[in-house]
Amino acid sequence: MNPVIVALDISLLKALDLVKMLREKVAGFKIGWELIFEGGISIVSEISRYGNVIVDLKVADVPHIANRVINKVIEKGACCAIVHGFLYPSLPRGENIYVLAKMTAPTLYDEVWERIIENVGEIRGFVLPGNQPEFISRARKILGCKYRIISPGIGAQGGQPGNALRAGADFEIVGRYVVENPDRVAEWTGLRPACFNTP
Ligand code: XMP
Repeated sequence: MNPVIVALDISLLKALDLVKMLREKVAGFKIGWELIFEGGISIVSEISRYGNVIVDLKVADVPHIANRVINKVIEKGACCAIVHGFLYPSLPRGENIYVLAKMTAPTLYDEVWERIIENVGEIRGFVLPGNQPEFISRARKILGCKYRIISPGIGAQGGQPGNALRAGADFEIVGRYVVENPDRVAEWTGLRPACFNTP
């Protein structure tokens, strides 16, 4: 198993082919709006048959509504879901929740991300930019191994495979770079998560 989560920002048929091809080789799959619009919410259960599923709807609502959305995808078999960190301090909390704290592109998160990660409380982990490994190192120093770190921005957005992992991430999230050529998952051979073995 390579410490890679494949972002399935592709059509339903292509996604199903890809998960069957990569199920033994990657740590899991990430599903977003596109696939859920196409396949319906049952696509979460379908893909969960082949591996761990993170649902990335970048939820951004008041906690009781956010929790209802998250509970729906967890009931369908997802391990976890991503919410926007700018909700802090009014964030939903829980073992299934990843908080997006800094993006791969410049945003206002750049001014507040450390405040978010230092104060957030009981959640599963953080989404932090894999194309900026220096920030992953800083985050891991602050967090120790209390939280998972998962990191997009690899390949198409300039991050080099493995650099975020070496800086302290547990899993790299990769979309286009692997979708275009699934053999590229071999580039993660021998790399290990910094702290956690499951996404
Ligand atoms: P690519 O094709 O660029 O896809 O590997 C990245 C995936 O990660 C999701 N995601 C983010 N992408 N900055 C990003 O560029 C972020 O901060 C971020 N957080 C999550 C994205 O939606 C796509 O599925």
